[in-house]
Amino acid sequence: MIQSISQHILSVLFFNFMCCYCSVFEYETQIFLSIFYESKNNESKMFILEELEPVMETLHKHITVHLVPFGRAKSIKHGLNGFECHNGDSECLGNMIQDCTIHNMYKKTDLEKVKYIACEMEYGTSLRGDPYCIIKSGVNKEEVLKCITSSEGTQLQLSSEYVTNIVKPNHIPAIGINQVYNTTIDSEARSDLMGTLCSYIRNTHPCAKYYNEIALQEILQNDIL
Ligand SMILES: *[C@@H]1O[C@H](CO)[C@@H](O)[C@H](O)[C@H]1NC(C)=O
Ligand SMILES: *[C@@H]1O[C@H](CO)[C@@H](O)[C@H](O)[C@H]1NC(C)=O
Repeated sequence: MIQSISQHILSVLFFNFMCCYCSVFEYETQIFLSIFYESKNNESKMFILEELEPVMETLHKHITVHLVPFGRAKSIKHGLNGFECHNGDSECLGNMIQDCTIHNMYKKTDLEKVKYIACEMEYGTSLRGDPYCIIKSGVNKEEVLKCITSSEGTQLQLSSEYVTNIVKPNHIPAIGINQVYNTTIDSEARSDLMGTLCSYIRNTHPCAKYYNEIALQEILQNDIL
């Protein structure tokens, strides 16, 4: 009898102990975001500059980004004869430069990586032979040059092709969340990245603020006050 009561107490304690953990980890606070894009694609440029960069500025503490500059490109003979790209040869070079620079930014934050690709997408500097964005990202331009002129750049692009082909996006850019590509969520994320990501991490500080602002706007619009 005594034994069974103590077991009961123990199991209650254990249950409460588990539940302390439950409440701490009740809400997801981290998102793994994958961006499939092309270096010369206008929609990719608009998405990166108007959605991804500003949202990362706000939510970077809660987001890990995987940037995949490949899109609708194809390797020719497993990369031995290079790649064929949706917006021409210069796009292939642009994709590889971005892959090489991102790869060399392993000590940088994901926000810094996003700022680097935003710079390339906005100004297209590297494709004009101007390493402005690479230098600004803090990467040694010689390392990037070495990467694009050796098999390393080809290997990075083959990896990008591999992950893109797993997803098989039906348009570019495409967005994956937590390793899942769902066309419904993707189209929501492309038009409203902040709202989509906040639906996963509601209880984080920046999202609580975001929801409060939306609520306030609705109140003001409806003249409730
Ligand atoms: C992309 O946008 C630029 C300038 O805004 C325009 O000149 C170009 O034709 C567009 N390209 C495509 C493929 O729509
Ligand atoms: C995609 O996400 C939507 C919205 O969350 C869901 O209803 C739908 O079942 C998902 N589709 C697939 C194929 O998982």
